[in-house]
This record gives sequence, C-alpha cells and structure tokens, in this order.
Amino acid sequence: MQLSINGRWVEADVEPAMPLLWVLRDVLALTGTKYGCGVAACGACTVRVDGQPVRSCVTPVSAVAGRKVVTIEGLGSASSPHPLQAAWIAEQVPQCGYCQSGMLMAAAALLERKPKPTDADIDEAMTNLCRCGTYQRVRAAIRRAAGIKA
Ligand code: FES
Ligand code: FES
Repeated sequence: MQLSINGRWVEADVEPAMPLLWVLRDVLALTGTKYGCGVAACGACTVRVDGQPVRSCVTPVSAVAGRKVVTIEGLGSASSPHPLQAAWIAEQVPQCGYCQSGMLMAAAALLERKPKPTDADIDEAMTNLCRCGTYQRVRAAIRRAAGIKA
C-alpha cells in the first residue's frame, strides 16, 4: 500500500484493516504517536490526515491510502520547531509527556482552521485526555503560539 507520511511516499506491506497507529509505530518505526486507549477516547494517537485530526488507533490504514498523513515527527524538529512546539517549551507544558504528541497534532489542526481561537474554540477542539492534568498549560501554549495575550 502506498502511503504519504510526513511528505514522503512510503510502501507498506500490511493488511488493509490494520490500524494506522500500528502501521506508524510497528511497521514504519514512527513511535512518536502513542497508544493510550485504543478506542478513540484519549487522543494520544492523534495524527493529521489531509489536515484533519484523526485518531489513528481506530483508523484502518486503508482509509488513508493516497491521503496526506502527518505525524508528530513531521510537525517540526529540534532545530526548527513548529510555533506550537516552541510555545509548549516556553509554557513548560509536558509533564510525563505521554499525551503530548497527540495534543500538539490536535492543536496544530485547530490553529490552521482558526488562527486566533477563543477559549471555547480551544476547549471544543482539544478533547485529548491528559492524566497529568496539563490542560491549563496546553491552553496557555496555544494562546502563546496564536499570539493571543492571556
Ligand atoms: S489510543 Fe487512540 S484515542 Fe486513545
Ligand atoms: S503529560 Fe502526562 S498524560 Fe499528559
């Protein structure tokens, strides 16, 4: 199956029903995307497909054939961080860090859709769960990346 992952075409010899999360992690070794619940409830596995945030644990890989998949590995890099990643560091958002790649992918989709989101927009878009309770810092970092004063 031909997949577009982080701007590159890759060939993956997998069953069509295999969840995208397992293809990313186990076949393509892109382990930045995390497994939390497996039932679309927590958001730890969030990636973007054609710009939309998608929970990869419940997405069969066949559903993304020929579509543009972006994972946390494609968001930015240490030398060239995405504005959200810079804001995440400035606001010291991560605690254990486990949920954070999913948070960042959901936030990136939000800011592309709404560059100046309200708190209500943020709450509506950020349905990801964080057992460390970073919600207020996530909100602050999204505001910072959007250039919104607290
Ligand atoms: S692991 Fe996919 S939503 Fe929790
Ligand atoms: S930072 Fe630990 S689960 Fe969110």
